[in-house]
Amino acid sequence: DMLCKEEMIELKDIFSVKLKRRCSVKQQGSGTLLGITLFICLKREQNKLKDSTLDLINLSEDHCDIWFQQFRKILAGFPNRPKSLKILLNPQSHKKEAIQVYYEKVEPLLKLAEIKTDVTKIVTEYEGHAVSLLKECELQGFDGVVCVGGDGSASEVAHALLLRAQKKAGMETDGILTPVRAQLPLGLIPAGSTNVLAHSLHGISHVVTATLHIIMGHIQPVDVCTFSTAGKLLRFGFSAMFGFGGRTLAVAEKYRWMSPNHRRDFAVIKALAKLKPEDCEISFLPFNSSKDIQERKAQGSPKCDCDDPWQMIQGQFLNVSIMAIPCLCSVAPRGLAPNTRLNNGSMALIIARDTSRPEFIKHLKRYASVKNQFSFSFVETYTVEEVKVHPRSNSSRYNPEREDTPHETASENSFPWNVDGDLMEVASEVHVRLHPRLISLYGESMEEMHDFKVTCNCI
Ligand SMILES: *[C@@H]1O[C@H](CO)[C@@H](O)[C@H](O)[C@H]1NC(C)=O
Ligand SMILES: *[C@@H]1O[C@H](CO)[C@@H](O)[C@H](O)[C@H]1NC(C)=O
Ligand SMILES: *[C@@H]1O[C@H](CO)[C@@H](O)[C@H](O)[C@H]1NC(C)=O
Ligand SMILES: *[C@@H]1O[C@H](CO)[C@@H](O)[C@H](O)[C@H]1NC(C)=O
Repeated sequence: DMLCKEEMIELKDIFSVKLKRRCSVKQQGSGTLLGITLFICLKREQNKLKDSTLDLINLSEDHCDIWFQQFRKILAGFPNRPKSLKILLNPQSHKKEAIQVYYEKVEPLLKLAEIKTDVTKIVTEYEGHAVSLLKECELQGFDGVVCVGGDGSASEVAHALLLRAQKKAGMETDGILTPVRAQLPLGLIPAGSTNVLAHSLHGISHVVTATLHIIMGHIQPVDVCTFSTAGKLLRFGFSAMFGFGGRTLAVAEKYRWMSPNHRRDFAVIKALAKLKPEDCEISFLPFNSSKDIQERKAQGSPKCDCDDPWQMIQGQFLNVSIMAIPCLCSVAPRGLAPNTRLNNGSMALIIARDTSRPEFIKHLKRYASVKNQFSFSFVETYTVEEVKVHPRSNSSRYNPEREDTPHETASENSFPWNVDGDLMEVASEVHVRLHPRLISLYGESMEEMHDFKVTCNCI
């Protein structure tokens, strides 16, 4: 007895129950009853979830049946656990691994949890495929949508779900100020060459963790941005880079024949070799400023010169990040925007002004550390609700004649943006606006991230 270690599981961590039988080939019927098996979701270090089983041995058919029915009743009572999911799978993503990832790791767990699935393949080469798919497909009867792929697919599906929600609500998307929320929660299974969205959502890029969050019905609201130009909606998204980050992606897109990892390294080197600043005007609405002014007005404060809460900075900028979520990835364990959260109602605006190439490289490398990421004289960070990026002259636009190979840059007279890993080319001002908690994603709020930080600091 003394050797038995006492352990405990909570009912809320159980996601399935089965009768356990010993089946033999000779035997007819369902085999000898051994007891019941509970399938549980275990929390591991660094936000990782793992499935496990617990066998309760009891040879009595009657006892087992009572317990089995009781457990099923309890399981049916948990809110948010999906019974039926629409799965969108990108078969092309990361060396065509998504299909294997889904059928080997995800589907068996969904089956175990008795979740019905309906799989549709999306083709990311065909731009807007997810949008047209989600425009037409019937989502009635589904409790959630799941995207199996990388950042490009995930972002496109989120965009498509939000567009669909606006259409259903009869909203014009152009000039939209307060979009309606997406009706169904979205799950993200990381199966791409970059999985920043899933990583930010779960604190780890891990297929089983992502799947278990969906099965357990962990749901959290997440902030989303709209990107528009001249009042016209370009898309919904979670993060954007302009300047170096956009240009790197534009170069990578021209070398699609390379493997994703090679392509990315190659593009970074190429973009660094041609590092040049953009001449821009960046206006932004600091977080809380509109509320501040309303409050001051309500309190009848004497005339203040702060009626226009917008601030403007201008100059030569090498790289600009606008991020509604922390953007965790392997090169930035605390995120490309470590000071923002998935849903605290603000975006990080991070600006790298013109500097020397070695200093800029030092700044990029600093993302790998756990603190002082932005302690460079040429880097500025702001917490904002809205941003307008207005390129001021044509001097730094793409001029194919100046390039050694005419095919490698974005179209003439447009600026490349990297929106969640997707290339977006826009010729003029881009207006980015934050919409708090616009979409629900399967995942749990990561309070543990703080622990993670602390443990990291101690190393
Ligand atoms: C700049 O670009 C890199 C890589 O493209 C990106 O990871 C980084 O977060 C960007 N932002 C800033 C402000 O340097
Ligand atoms: C934002 O405004 C609210 C109320 O106006 C205030 O309670 C809160 O502390 C402010 N947050 C920040 C980060 O300034
Ligand atoms: C969002 O959360 C981060 C981290 O807790 C914090 O530093 C930042 O000030 C928060 N922003 C707002 C607007 O509350
Ligand atoms: C920038 O380019 C556009 C289109 O090519 C042109 O119409 C405009 O006059 C140019 N502006 C400047 C300041 O050179």
